[in-house]
Amino acid sequence: MQVRTKNRTVNNRPIGIFDSGFGGLTVMSAIVEALPSESLIYFGDTAHVPYGSKSKDIVIKYSKEITSFLMKFKVKLIVVACNTASAFALSTLRKTLKVPVIGVIEPGSKAAIYASKNKKIGVIGTEGTINSESYVREINRISRYEVYQQACPLFVPLVEEGWNSGEIADSIVKKYIKPLLDKKIDTLVLGCTHYPLLRETLKKNVGRSIALIDSAKATAQEVKSILEEACLLADLKSRKFLKFYVSDNPKKFQAIGSRFFSKEMPSVKKIKMIS
Ligand code: DGL
Repeated sequence: MQVRTKNRTVNNRPIGIFDSGFGGLTVMSAIVEALPSESLIYFGDTAHVPYGSKSKDIVIKYSKEITSFLMKFKVKLIVVACNTASAFALSTLRKTLKVPVIGVIEPGSKAAIYASKNKKIGVIGTEGTINSESYVREINRISRYEVYQQACPLFVPLVEEGWNSGEIADSIVKKYIKPLLDKKIDTLVLGCTHYPLLRETLKKNVGRSIALIDSAKATAQEVKSILEEACLLADLKSRKFLKFYVSDNPKKFQAIGSRFFSKEMPSVKKIKMIS
């Protein structure tokens, strides 16, 4: 329910957020930090992860099912924390849902444009995100920049294994990044939920002069300004709750999740999906 106070309109309903699995917790963590009054409900589709190698149609199907689950909580806004789901399903979700839907590609693209001086931006992501060319389209919709892309399918399993740094991480990062460095990019978009955990290894291998763009932080700021503009911010002294749901293996989610969430994970509930 939206309540009018003397000075502004407030809305204490929760924000819904989803991802293919753990990765979106990097976005959740940034939102939790930026918006301390907001209650959040997170859904990780651990039964269907990874989305990065799946087809557009199936990712849209999963995303629709997850968002109808989130809508049962009367969420006031939905964040598509997964880059692949943002690339494939955002426009469908925006057409069908009656609340604002925010993806990670628009905020990440804006932040990259802001950071780049030589107008040469590199984007790394899953096969799905890269093949969709969503970052290329979004950056060029805003301004004419040269955008060079590279799919990095080994990064997700690498991070989930906890091998964020060391010899193996270094050599995989070097191999994927070389074609982008050859193009003389000055900005690199981490276009996947898992990549912020590789930040130090990436920094070491791309050099300090290249700006690394973390879509998670940019998305949290976008959520804040959309809620402000739409007068949908909560006015609580502290949030009422953070809830976590998954479609499979809640114990594993809780164990690995704390690495992505940078905090201790509260309890996680399993929900049966139709698909
Ligand atoms: N969350 C996905 C993304 O940001 C990465 C993991 C997956 O492939 O599902 O694209």
